[in-house]
Amino acid sequence: MKEKILRILREAEDYVSGQELCELLGVSRTAVWKVIVQLKEEGYQIEGVKNRGYIVTAIPDVMTEAEIGSRLHTSVMGQCCICCKEVDSTNNRAKRLADEGKPHGTLVCAEHQTGGKGRRGRSWSSPPGEAIYMSLLLRPDINPTHTSMLTLVMGLAAAKACNQVLKRRLGEKAPMVQVKWPNDLVLEGRKLAGILTELSTEVDYINHVVIGIGINVNTQAFPEEIAATANSMRLATGQIFSRAELTACCMERFEECYEIFSRTEDLSALKEEYESLLVNKDRQVKVLEPGHAYIGQALGINESGELLVKKEDGQVLAVYAGEVSVRGIYGYV
Ligand code: BTN
Repeated sequence: MKEKILRILREAEDYVSGQELCELLGVSRTAVWKVIVQLKEEGYQIEGVKNRGYIVTAIPDVMTEAEIGSRLHTSVMGQCCICCKEVDSTNNRAKRLADEGKPHGTLVCAEHQTGGKGRRGRSWSSPPGEAIYMSLLLRPDINPTHTSMLTLVMGLAAAKACNQVLKRRLGEKAPMVQVKWPNDLVLEGRKLAGILTELSTEVDYINHVVIGIGINVNTQAFPEEIAATANSMRLATGQIFSRAELTACCMERFEECYEIFSRTEDLSALKEEYESLLVNKDRQVKVLEPGHAYIGQALGINESGELLVKKEDGQVLAVYAGEVSVRGIYGYV
């Protein structure tokens, strides 16, 4: 009910009477009033005016089920949403929930991670309150060898969502978020977000996939080791963004992209849009494979989501997004 009240109050541009809320929700005035009191305790500023009703005048930047749910327009992704104040890692929590039987599309978010995980056993700095830490549980009925493409689908969806939110606020002046193949988002040449996809499989089928993403939304300062290569939407624009709005938007864009991906189980229909946001495209890159490194020009991706790299001798290689890392020849991009 909290989610519904929030949605009604936010979407109405004027006061909504207590009577109207009662009728829309089929509950008593006392029940509505109790939720309004709870919301105020959580930091919402809600004015109640006699004979006019309620209006929301300020919304706190909280990652709660009600705040995210009240902004969500999806049919599957994020419809089951679990938000924690503190967790070891949202990916770990999503995996535990998968074992408990939570459905396809379950979203796990946290204000703070005590053991945030990055790729290749690295840690992911996860201080409270400023960034998005979320993991999406999927139970896809696809060939396990196709799962690495899901990282690219999430990368594309999240980049589109960030751009939508940035444009909504800054119009044509908004800086553009791009994708760095295979699992980073980039803003002004620095890392804005990282994706960690984890998989539970049997010999020939997938139990579940967890796609975790950390987005530096309102982060004001980074640990020294990453300060030169990391960026946040706030540092780039000087503006503060609603993490719940961006989370809901990521779920919406992901639902669309996932639907398109599922029709063919490849990236054929998403390739063009992916390449339009691909920061590596046409650039010189250094491909770091375990025990082997080479330089070439990134041409784009193929339908399987592999990066096409033209080596100096003219040979074009398709690089699989496994243990590979791709850098610019002079730095991060
Ligand atoms: C990387 O760039 O190395 C991937 C970083 C992935 C971080 C996210 S934050 C939410 C989810 N939970 C984790 O423990 N990791 C991912």
